[in-house]
Amino acid sequence: AFPQRVFSGVQPTGNLHLGNYLGAITRFVALQDDYDCIYCVVDMHAITQAVSVWGGPEELTKSTREVTAAFIASGIDPEKHIVFNQSQVAEHAELAWVFNCVARMGWLNRMTQFKEKAGKHRENASVGLFAYPNLMAADILVYRATHVPVGEDQKQHLELARDIAQKFNTDFADSIRRVSGEDEFFPLPEPLIQGPATRVMSLRDGTKKMSKSDPSDYSRINLTDDADTIAQKIRKAKTDPEPLPGEEDGLEPRPEAANLVGIYAALADRSKADVLAEFGGAQFSTFKTALADLSVAKLAPIASEMRRLRDDPGYIDSVLERGAGQARDIAGPVMRNVKDIIGF
Ligand code: ADP
Ligand code: NA
Repeated sequence: AFPQRVFSGVQPTGNLHLGNYLGAITRFVALQDDYDCIYCVVDMHAITQAVSVWGGPEELTKSTREVTAAFIASGIDPEKHIVFNQSQVAEHAELAWVFNCVARMGWLNRMTQFKEKAGKHRENASVGLFAYPNLMAADILVYRATHVPVGEDQKQHLELARDIAQKFNTDFADSIRRVSGEDEFFPLPEPLIQGPATRVMSLRDGTKKMSKSDPSDYSRINLTDDADTIAQKIRKAKTDPEPLPGEEDGLEPRPEAANLVGIYAALADRSKADVLAEFGGAQFSTFKTALADLSVAKLAPIASEMRRLRDDPGYIDSVLERGAGQARDIAGPVMRNVKDIIGF
């Protein structure tokens, strides 16, 4: 059995939003007591999109520090766990190349995120955007991580990572036994998709996920929004005219209501059933006021800590540098074994 280890990453592209926070970062925080964790700012993933999307060199450096600050401000402890940015540890790219040669075209052709991100102009998408899931598999497996906290949108990529690990283990079974004495070199990493907000939806359209790339500012709450902006966005959030249902079944045909209740539950660390037991029968105007207050109470301290950290880039850079050293100490030996296994 492989020692349990958590790995996950967040891209430094644009503003972090409530979906990233509830679907990913709060989960990262929660796992710290039970696992050794590695949390990565995945800057090599950011450049898979057009330069105009990630904003160019200065913006990339700034966003990398910003995500690191969000990790720390949200409660990730870089003294106890590893926090770094991907481009500083060359083994990610090295293993990704090997995985480019393990993964099959047909597997990647099935990835829905590529289809969404590439849109109608597939011929103009970067090769990196297509191969993104292979790099993601390398991010995880270069640490032989066993558990990966992510939002629901990443489920398919995690399945691909498992397929890659499995094929590598099978293709090189004899060599693995010779080099490492193990029956399997890579664990099959398990997604941890947990909590009431694994898929936070847009505030403007309950059928689309909240995303950095949505052109409407009112579709998402950013971690750094001020109290008035948060309250205004929640007030304007799309809802239906019915009062809140008393039970979860009543949310089934009502995506906007389900989304707001899920957000409330996640922020309050309560179940949706529990939230509905309190607010069932209430009008949305009442519920939205409570949700705005709760959102501000939870997010304002994070935003203020992020502002403080923004003024101290030297500290952030020192965290990333130390984290990269610790990451290399794990990834280096794994990659040396991979090379021996392949025959490099
Ligand atoms: P984005 O999807 O916003 O471009 P990333 O790809 O960097 O951001 O995702 C970082 C983490 O946030 C991933 O674990 C992803 O699953 C999670 N995440 C992103 N959007 C949402 C959402 N709307 N609801 C829940 N989790 C999300
Ligand atoms: Na994503």
